[in-house]
Amino acid sequence: MSQLENLHKSPQLLRFGDPKLYEVSSPFNLPTEMSLAHQTLQFMEQVTQDMNIVGIAAPQIGILKRIVMFEVPAEHPRYKTDGVAIPMRVLINPSYKPLSDEKNLEWEACLSVPGMIGQVPRHTHIEYQYTDLEGNSHVYEASHFHARVVQHELDHLDGVLYPLRIKNMQTFGFREEVMVSTMFLESRQ
Ligand code: NI
Repeated sequence: MSQLENLHKSPQLLRFGDPKLYEVSSPFNLPTEMSLAHQTLQFMEQVTQDMNIVGIAAPQIGILKRIVMFEVPAEHPRYKTDGVAIPMRVLINPSYKPLSDEKNLEWEACLSVPGMIGQVPRHTHIEYQYTDLEGNSHVYEASHFHARVVQHELDHLDGVLYPLRIKNMQTFGFREEVMVSTMFLESRQ
């Protein structure tokens, strides 16, 4: 419980450069630590309340445990979505595997890298599994944006932030500047 006890009363988002974001998080020991998972989720919700987020992982608020939450919107002003909404999912001890070699290149942003976006290659089709807050196991297939969100959030659990995966650093920059650039506009066509 020490990680939680060390948190301030109001947990805060860590930002790009904080060494904690580069650490590998440890799995929840289930079912013993299920209450810890619930408590961690509460902190995550507290930090992101009133924010319009796609997802967040526990290391982003300084808790190095393997839990993420995300919600896939049908439409989004910055991301290429698939028109299919997935309601909020909370993933405990998640993992994924690619279902093919196919990758695609799309724009990403992150609460820990405020104001910035960049183009990141991700597996197009994956299968992921996790335990939910009731202790039930799930396996889902995901493609395109849904698959991208899962890979982005699970990367946080292994200390990987999306800028580390960018191949062409000319696509990384402040949102306002990049969104009027030719590269961004061409990728939207
Ligand atoms: Ni992120």
